[in-house]
Amino acid sequence: MVTIYDVARHAGVSAATVSRVLNGHAKVDPALAERVTSSVAELGYRRNAVARNLRKSRTSLWAVIISDVENPFFTSMVRGVEDIALAAGYSVVLCNSDENPEKESNYIVAALTEQMAGVIISPSSNRVDDVKLLLDSGCPVVVIDRELHGLRTDTVLVDNERGAEQATAHLIDQGYRRIACIGGPRWLSTATHRYDGYRRALGTAGLSLEPSLVRFADFRERGGYDAMASLLDDGAEPDALFAANNLMTVGAMECLVQRDLAVPTDIAVVGFDTIPWADLIRPTLTTVSQPAYEVGRQAAQLLARRITKPDADATNVLLPTELQVRASSTRRISTGE
Ligand code: RIB
Repeated sequence: MVTIYDVARHAGVSAATVSRVLNGHAKVDPALAERVTSSVAELGYRRNAVARNLRKSRTSLWAVIISDVENPFFTSMVRGVEDIALAAGYSVVLCNSDENPEKESNYIVAALTEQMAGVIISPSSNRVDDVKLLLDSGCPVVVIDRELHGLRTDTVLVDNERGAEQATAHLIDQGYRRIACIGGPRWLSTATHRYDGYRRALGTAGLSLEPSLVRFADFRERGGYDAMASLLDDGAEPDALFAANNLMTVGAMECLVQRDLAVPTDIAVVGFDTIPWADLIRPTLTTVSQPAYEVGRQAAQLLARRITKPDADATNVLLPTELQVRASSTRRISTGE
C-alpha cells in the first residue's frame, strides 16, 4: 500500500508538506503542491479511508516530541509526562527530533496519521505550520521548554531570562569582570532568553557587553567545547563563563581541562540545567537548576485536561529556576584590579 511517506520521498518533500497539500492548506508553494499532486497520481496514493474510519476515535497514545534524546533534561522531563500519562490511562510514544525541523515534521505527521490522543512538543524551530496541522485536526497540543509564537496552546516554560540574569549577577558579585557567555542557537527562545538575562545582568552592573566574550553554539557538548576553544584562542581572555545549558557546560569544561586551566582560579564556571553530578566533581559546579520533571508533569496534566475540555482557555505556566552556588564560581581573591 502506498503511504504518505512514499509520496513524500517521490516528490522530494516532507511528509508534513504532503499532508498540507492533501488537506488543502493554502500556504504551500505551488511548485511543491504540483510535485505532490503528480506523485499522488503517479503512485496511485489513496488515503486509507477505511483505516481512518476504523480509527475515528483517537488512540490512547500521547506523542512526546523532544529536541535531543541524549540530553538528560529531556529524559527527566519525559519521566514527568509518563508518570501522569500512565495514571490517566495513556501510553507515551517518545519522538526525538534531534533539533531537526524536518525530522520533527515527520513525527508530527505520524502523530496526525496515527490519530494520537495528544502531543507534547519541545519545538526544534519557530515553524508553527506543522503544529497548526495537529490543532486544525483537533489533536490537543502542549508546547514545553521553547516558545512557539502565534498559536493558542497550553505551554509550560521556565523563566530562562531570570535564571541567566541571576547566574551572571552572581559572577559579578564574586568579582569577575570578563564574563564570557556560550549561548544556544539564537532561533530558539531558551537561547535568546538566557542570552538576554546575561546581557541584563551586565547592564545592571554597568559592565559593557563585549562581543568578543560571546559565542553561540548548538546546545551540545561538542559545540560547547569548540566555543570555549574559540574564546581562548581568539584572545578574549575571560575570567568567568556562563554556559547556557548542561551539555555545552560539559564541553566547555573538557576544553578547560585539556588547556590545564583551573576552575575557578583561571576561569570561574556557571552552567545551566540541573546537573546531577554537580556535587560530585571538584570543584563542585555552580548551576542554574531548572525543574525538568515538573515541566513534564505539569505539561501532562494540562494535556489530560485539554483532552476532556478542548475549549478551555489556554494556560501558560512559567516555572522558576534556582541558582545553586558551588565552588566553581567562588569569590575571586581581589588583587585590586
Ligand atoms: O539542556 C536542555 C535545556 O537547554 C533545555 O531548556 C533546552 O531547551 C536547551 O535550551
